[in-house]
Amino acid sequence: MNIKEISLKKLNPDKFIEDKVQEISSTVGDSLAINALSGGVDSSVVTMLGHRALGDRLKTYFVGNGLMREGEPEQIISMFKSSGINVELFDAVDVFFDALKGLTDPEEKREAITRAFYKDVFGGLVKECGAKYLFQGTNYTDIEETIAGIKRQHNILEQLGINPDEEYGYKVIEPLIQLRKSAIRKVAQAIGLPAEICGRPPFPGPALATRVIGEVTRESVAIVRKATMIVEEELRNISAFQYLAILHQDKVTGIREGKRDYGKQIEVRCWDSQDAVTGSPTRLPYFILDRLAERITSEVRGVVSVTYNITPKPPSTIEAV
Ligand code: XMP
Repeated sequence: MNIKEISLKKLNPDKFIEDKVQEISSTVGDSLAINALSGGVDSSVVTMLGHRALGDRLKTYFVGNGLMREGEPEQIISMFKSSGINVELFDAVDVFFDALKGLTDPEEKREAITRAFYKDVFGGLVKECGAKYLFQGTNYTDIEETIAGIKRQHNILEQLGINPDEEYGYKVIEPLIQLRKSAIRKVAQAIGLPAEICGRPPFPGPALATRVIGEVTRESVAIVRKATMIVEEELRNISAFQYLAILHQDKVTGIREGKRDYGKQIEVRCWDSQDAVTGSPTRLPYFILDRLAERITSEVRGVVSVTYNITPKPPSTIEAV
């Protein structure tokens, strides 16, 4: 690939910030830009860089796609408000569930999410506010995985032959394209983001849709959202790279109140990793696994089985879709 990585060792965060702010200012000139903030470290750094370069000429949105975790939109919007950045919630719940309707193939689901974000949501937003540019936090690993054919990351366009200007009516600026996650965290600290954001475990752009095997519906997302909340509560202090819950499509026979209950399965994953390129399952103490099984089967309706993934990446990947 023709993009050159800036490794963690070679990165000078202050110089990186200064260079990017300058690059953004000279590229955008007097025009307007938009960006979508999800609250992950990548999009948070892009939001800060963009606002530093353009001030009010950057409009930041939180795309309410119906696929986020419990309370996430409100939490992120209020966190940025206290740093003086206004984030507008854009309701696109129906757009995403309509786009995902009937799809079960992982790459088709990913493609539908890309189209919903870039064509339907951002295409509409730029027209509405007259912006010419969209900023996004694509990182080096996202591009590498897509080019390698492992999976199509939702935010990859150019490398898949998509010209956003021709197809959607705006240009895309990707200030973090040369960095991996650990280097982005360093820039996040240098730009003054709170520790809570700098250390936030990664969360994918397609959100809980990457954690539902089979069709993504409002019902399946509600189940995986509840399980995710439990997994995050129980594993928060483990200091792993990432931890998540996956809803399986197949049902299994279980027992509830002494009777057969043909129910759902949740798989828990918890990863030790540097940059998500490779990973190994965290050796969780058994009492934590016990508690996860206990809580998920009693608090998430219809779940009768909880498993823990013991496979490294590769051959597994971090998300299930
Ligand atoms: P995988 O599942 O490919 O994930 O091992 C590697 C890292 O990337 C995140 N991920 C994504 N992030 N858009 C993103 O912004 C995506 O489409 C996407 N898919 C996976 C994943 O959570 C992990 O940190």
